[in-house]
Amino acid sequence: MFPKKPPMGFNTWNTFAENISDEMIRATADAMVEKGLLAAGYEYLVIDDCWSERQRDKITDKIIPDAKKFPNGMKAVSDYVHSKGLKFGMYSCAGVRTCADYPGSFGHEYLDAETFAEYGADFLKYDYCYKPKDADGPLLYRRMSMALRSCGRDIMLSACNWGCDDVHKWIRSTGAGMYRSTGDINDSFVSFRDIFLSQLDNYVYSAPGCFNDIDMLTVGMRNRGNVAASGCTDEEYRTEFALWCMFSAPLMLGCDVRNIDDVTLRLVTNPLMLRVNQDEEARPPFFALREHNDLCNVYVKVMSNNELAVLFTNFTEDDGRSMWMPLENIGIPVTAGKGLHLTDVYTGEDLGVHKEYLRFSVPAHGTRMFIAKIEG
Ligand code: GLA
Repeated sequence: MFPKKPPMGFNTWNTFAENISDEMIRATADAMVEKGLLAAGYEYLVIDDCWSERQRDKITDKIIPDAKKFPNGMKAVSDYVHSKGLKFGMYSCAGVRTCADYPGSFGHEYLDAETFAEYGADFLKYDYCYKPKDADGPLLYRRMSMALRSCGRDIMLSACNWGCDDVHKWIRSTGAGMYRSTGDINDSFVSFRDIFLSQLDNYVYSAPGCFNDIDMLTVGMRNRGNVAASGCTDEEYRTEFALWCMFSAPLMLGCDVRNIDDVTLRLVTNPLMLRVNQDEEARPPFFALREHNDLCNVYVKVMSNNELAVLFTNFTEDDGRSMWMPLENIGIPVTAGKGLHLTDVYTGEDLGVHKEYLRFSVPAHGTRMFIAKIEG
């Protein structure tokens, strides 16, 4: 499976962890359709860790779904998800146990890939806990990739080794469609800020076919569920979503979409932000301004149809900080006589043509984000 655009969907881990069930997955599938999330592009519904029994089946050696959580088996759940027009994602681990101590796929890769194909899975998140010490990480991801490529079903491999072993250098070669590059996110500004900043040098490796996954979004969690921490303000959630969009990161929702609030729903379905995330050229942004140790930056992403996306970030406590960026930094000198025709992606407002420089006041922990055309 070769994803041309950053994959979009929902994953159970951030909110639910082990509190997953047949009923909860079906209700989530319903919500993804009814609330317009599928229509906006969120097509994968991924069940993360804790879905299986604690031990493999003694006779077949297969991983088996937890009979209490999934009394109808996994194929029935997958059929329901598919009946809604969604794609179905499963989870396993390259080690002998998963991170939450359920059976991992080490030494069972081909059997498990067949099992996931029998379930009708379209996506496999593949974690990295309990890896035998002398096992080679890249080899384990190759092994599951080959197992998936021979299982008779198109299943995208979503690697999750948290950035170990310089993963960005070799993961594309395994055939994975996306790869986690950082440790786990929690629902706080500091967590998503640091995750984002840790990858500043690595976004150039993210491109169609294999995208840098900076973890499931905490947007809209409102400090409830498994990765609750200090929580975020609306401004901070918007910053998180803007960063993920600007850097072509997979958009995997982690909030409880059955109860998603209106502010969050509007944010995650914002058509201009999604246009930036899903732009077919999927280019990494460049730095148009770098200040205060990357706390106050301006990023510019070249997009298709001669559009640009422009993102101002202010990660400091200084509210309303005035940020100034000469268009010269983008490659538009004053002598060119050109300016940027800006649309504010949050309000949809046409801000007209700006010549010579952009100057905006940016809220603390906040952003300004624009789509621009070069005119003049
Ligand atoms: C790891 C992953 C998380 C989640 C948990 C499940 O920590 O990074 O995203 O899948 O395992 O146990």
